[in-house]
Parts: sequence; structure tokens; C-alpha cells
Amino acid sequence: MKNFLIAAVIILSTSIVFASNGDWGKTGHRATAEIAEGHLSDKAKKAINELLDGYGLAFVANYADDIKSDPEFRQYGPWHYVNIEPDAEEYVLEEASDRGDLVQAIRKCIEVLKDKKAPQEEKEFHLKMLVHFVGDLHQPFHTGHSGDKGGNDIQVRWFNDGSNIHRVWDSEMIDFYQMSYTELALNTKELSKKEIKTIQNGKLLDWVYESRAMAEDLYAGVENGEKLGYSYMYKHMPAVLDQLQKGGLRLAKILNDIYGEKKS
Ligand code: ADE
Ligand code: ZN
Ligand code: ZN
Repeated sequence: MKNFLIAAVIILSTSIVFASNGDWGKTGHRATAEIAEGHLSDKAKKAINELLDGYGLAFVANYADDIKSDPEFRQYGPWHYVNIEPDAEEYVLEEASDRGDLVQAIRKCIEVLKDKKAPQEEKEFHLKMLVHFVGDLHQPFHTGHSGDKGGNDIQVRWFNDGSNIHRVWDSEMIDFYQMSYTELALNTKELSKKEIKTIQNGKLLDWVYESRAMAEDLYAGVENGEKLGYSYMYKHMPAVLDQLQKGGLRLAKILNDIYGEKKS
């Protein structure tokens, strides 16, 4: 009985650790991927269809999280976020983590997908990683401060449960909302062609700085130990949806740039 209890505690605690180690959360990443799917050029659709053997982007959107606990893929852990300190003016590659970060990860994925000589399996792997990482980039706390691990160390209560501000943005709000990823994708803003173009404009670092500025506002709006619930959610849920949508539109832009723009 004692051994059983010890085993139960170990299993439960590891599952809590792994459960809290996600990113946007499965639903958020899938919503971003689904939005991207709807904005792909014919050429991109065809190339992606071949690489993913017919599976959609939403199906592979959480692969980068699924492999996290596998020692074979441990090196990709730091690729999910980029920390630029509050006093730093900009991202400087020479000063960035040599273990890699979200900026280097996205650049690497694009490079492999553009490389005519890269093997198909390599391309498939980096496409799945790219779908996930462009989602991560739009979760503001994935561009947060290193000192608090992008808000993971800022403890809050989410309704009556213990959580942290990073996790509130990864998954608590989205999960509490109880919409499927397709419902989330359908409920994003109706945008004109011009508005879509404006969102898709700019370079990777512009998008990083936008996310980082948003993170600064969110840091200022929360205190360690604060109890968050309905009012935090109804205040921020529109921004969550906007971020999922921006991520989807920009992922489509990156893929269309790689494969060619022709749209049906
Ligand atoms: N997840 C784990 N560590 C992190 C960090 N330093 N910043 C953002 N997200 C993280
Ligand atoms: Zn996260
Ligand atoms: Zn991630």
C-alpha cells in the first residue's frame, strides 16, 4: 500500500509538471494553424500537403511540445521562447543564447524549408516546428523576461487553483472559454484584405518586438499572488483571439513566401 501511494504521488506530480509545461496550449496552437491553413497560396498548399502526407497544419501544431520530454529532442527546449531584457533596445544575435531561441528557431525552420538540397524528413520536421513556433511567438510571455522565466515564476490564482501568469496566457483563459480550435478560428475578427496585409507586413523581429511590448503591458497589469478570474478573462480574451489570428496570418505569409504566392 505504501509503495502504491509513493508511486501514485510520483506519477501525479510528474503529470502536473508536464501538463503545466505547454505553450499556447493545444487548442491555441491548433487555432493559429487552422487560420494559417485558410490563407495559404495554392503552391504552399500543394507543397505542405506533400510534406505532411495529407495531414493539416492543425494536426501537427503541437508536435514541438509532444517531443519536449524525449531526450533525443532535448536541444529544442530553448527554441520555444526568446527573452529580451527590459533594458535591451533590440535583439542582438551575437548576444543571444547559443542554445538557440525562438528567433533563431524560426529562422532555421525557414532556411531548411527553402533549401532545395534538404532531405524531405528534415523539411517535414522543420515545417511542424515552424507551425508551432510562430504560434509561440504570439503568446506575449514567450518574449518575456528571463528572470521570471517569461512569467512562469509569477504565481497567481486562476479562480481557485494555483497557476502562474505565463500559464494563464498559454492555456487557462482559452481552456476556460471552452471553444474548440475551429470555433476559435471562426470567431476571430473579420478583416479586410488591407488589414490582413498590414498584419502580415514587417519582419520577424518587428513581430517579436510587438509581442514583447504587449508582454511589458501585461507584466505591469499583474501582481505576484493575485487572484485572477472572470474579469481578467473578459478583459483579455479579445487580445488572445487577436494574437491567435495574427499568428495564423503571419504563418501563412511565411509559408507563401517560401513556396510562392499564387492564390486561387
Ligand atoms: N518557458 C520556459 N522558460 C521560459 C522563459 N525563460 N521565457 C519564456 N518562456 C519560458
Ligand atoms: Zn508557454
Ligand atoms: Zn512551444
